[in-house]
Amino acid sequence: MAAVPAAPAPGVRVLYIDDDPGLCRLVQRQLGRLGYGVDIATSGPDGLARIALGEVDVVALDHYMPGQDGLQTLAAIRALAAPPPVVYVTGTQESRVAVAALKAGAADYVVKEVHGDFIELLSSAIDGALEQVKMRRAHEQAEAEIRAARDRFEALAAERALLLREMNHRVGNSLQIIMSLLHLQAGATENAEVQDALSNARGRVAAVAQVHRRLYTSDQVTTVAVDQYLGALLEDLQISAQHGEVGIDLSLAIDPLEIDPDRAVALGVIVTELVINASKYAYPGGKGPVHVALETRGEQIALWVEDAGVGLPPGGIALSTGLGNRIVRAMAAKLGAVLEFPERPKGTSVRVTFPAQATPAFGL
Ligand SMILES: Nc1ncnc2c1ncn2[C@@H]1O[C@H](COP(=O)(O)OP(=O)(O)OP(=O)(O)O)[C@@H](O)[C@H]1O
Ligand SMILES: [Mg+2]
Repeated sequence: MAAVPAAPAPGVRVLYIDDDPGLCRLVQRQLGRLGYGVDIATSGPDGLARIALGEVDVVALDHYMPGQDGLQTLAAIRALAAPPPVVYVTGTQESRVAVAALKAGAADYVVKEVHGDFIELLSSAIDGALEQVKMRRAHEQAEAEIRAARDRFEALAAERALLLREMNHRVGNSLQIIMSLLHLQAGATENAEVQDALSNARGRVAAVAQVHRRLYTSDQVTTVAVDQYLGALLEDLQISAQHGEVGIDLSLAIDPLEIDPDRAVALGVIVTELVINASKYAYPGGKGPVHVALETRGEQIALWVEDAGVGLPPGGIALSTGLGNRIVRAMAAKLGAVLEFPERPKGTSVRVTFPAQATPAFGL
């Protein structure tokens, strides 16, 4: 004995379309007993008119009908804006018709055997079709939620980038003001030593300011293009050196490379110190070439600053009590860098080698 179908969800409205009024009434009565609300239509156009009135949850549609047959009616239903699911009813075991109906968008099909368990099969096909609709809606809702979450995330990320850029702009402006103040203060004294100290301080602030400038003028808000950064920094240094007593004849060879802002600041400060030193000491009373290079070598990044001047004093820079030396060493330690002074036939060479990837504990 076939299992008794479970009762449908309350209020489910079925439209049964069949040109046989006797069968229509039979289906209406028997499905009604199972708990479905059933409307009937005896032709395709009548069925479509009933659907247009609304509140049809599912349609059971007969294949053989004079005039507009089941497949034509199915096509018309599927063309509606929000079509109800359709269970296709064929009068034969002909699988060709069933396949055509499924291809045309029917949710399921049932073979009409009035003396068999047609009503039972029909009711379970109706339940299946309604379940499909429920699942599709749940799926669409989940997708819509994912889309909305993604849109929200993208909007937040864009806002965050904008805020970061704005913040870097402000920090950059503030540092620019500090640099101007240091410049004014240097101009207010006759003492060359004080002027020198203030101009060095200005150079150090410039290395930090330039990182912020790069962060708000590029598309990247979390990394700095080292070649552009050092290029701009050294151009500034060259311009400010032209106003001072010493000049520099700078050449650069910097590999394009992105690094995080903190390490860019450390690198910029080191380059500033070494270039200022070369401009101050390498060519007493004149100027000569100073070369800055940065190269990626596998896992390492190597930076050099070289000149062809008088060379370091005996004992090298290690004996120096200058602030520059201390700053360079502190920044090199932040980068996890090795600091070397390779021998040169003439002049000074300083090499700084550090890992391309920041160590997790890095922070200024
Ligand atoms: N490229 C160079 N050529 C020749 N001598 C150099 C060069 N770089 C540094 N020196 C020498 O090393 C010394 C130490 O440099 P360091 O940068 O530590 O201090 P400083 O430049 O004297 O002071 P500060 O950096 O605080 O202005 C310098 O005084 C200078 O004698
Ligand atoms: Mg120095």
